[in-house]
Amino acid sequence: MTNSETSIFIQKNSVAIRIWHWLTFLFVIALITTVLLESTVLNQRDNIPVVQKVLQSKGISVDNNQAQAVSHLYGEKMWDIHKIFGYFLSFLFLSRIIIELTQSKEEKIKYRFKSAVALLKKPGSDKKELKHYLIVKASYSFFYLLLMSMVVTGLLVAFGADLGITGPVRHSIKEVHGFIQYLIYAFVVFHLVGVILADIGKAKGIVSGMINGGK
Ligand code: HEM
Ligand code: HEM
Repeated sequence: MTNSETSIFIQKNSVAIRIWHWLTFLFVIALITTVLLESTVLNQRDNIPVVQKVLQSKGISVDNNQAQAVSHLYGEKMWDIHKIFGYFLSFLFLSRIIIELTQSKEEKIKYRFKSAVALLKKPGSDKKELKHYLIVKASYSFFYLLLMSMVVTGLLVAFGADLGITGPVRHSIKEVHGFIQYLIYAFVVFHLVGVILADIGKAKGIVSGMINGGK
């Protein structure tokens, strides 16, 4: 438990978890990319003068409102793509629940927590490493909570109108969705720094373990 060969961080990852992990990585990055593109190059307000300038060169003069009717179109298209990626991520969230229910006892989140707590109570165990392990596992549970909130709020915004959710309620749900994005970004940064430091340090091979399953 104390040296790198027997680090508690070196665990087996099932094929299902590995496929799930890299697909989730892909769709989270894709969703973040759509948000970034919408708020930069496709931003409807920033593009008002662009539309006006292009039309001006053709001898057509339009006011801000008229230009915005065109400039918002590309942003809207990007949100449509965001929604499609969002449905994929919602499906991945559902898959993660199914994986949790069907994978072996040793790989279940609850079992990993329980066995680490039991080890922590054992005399002579490496308390520092076990506490670190518990924090890392807690960060994953926190991410699953964020993912669930993103999926629920995203689907409510996408299908809310059919359920009678409109106006200020829809707006508030969208604001919550928009706020949780920052917690997702914080997790991604924390996670990337964490796995890289772990791989450089005591838990060598932890990253390749998420590719080849681990020894
Ligand atoms: C990593 C995950 C995600 C991130 C970072 C993210 C981020 C965002 C952000 C920043 C907005 C704009 C909010 C605002 O205008 O206040 C948004 C809108 C939206 N998101 Fe997500 N989102 C994610 C996942 C999802 C998922 C899983 C769905 C489910 C379908 C979804 C559906 C939507 C919808 C429908 C909108 C409104 C688009 C519109 O204005 O037409 N998102 N998202
Ligand atoms: C959007 C980006 C990412 C997200 C949302 C994400 C999410 C997660 C989650 C939720 C887990 C826990 C899986 C479980 O329940 O056991 C995990 C584990 C892991 N991830 Fe990521 N991940 C991301 C990117 C990456 C990248 C780029 C790498 C490699 C450089 C990576 C390497 C790992 C490793 C090695 C583990 C296992 C760590 C351990 O056993 O404690 N992840 N990731």
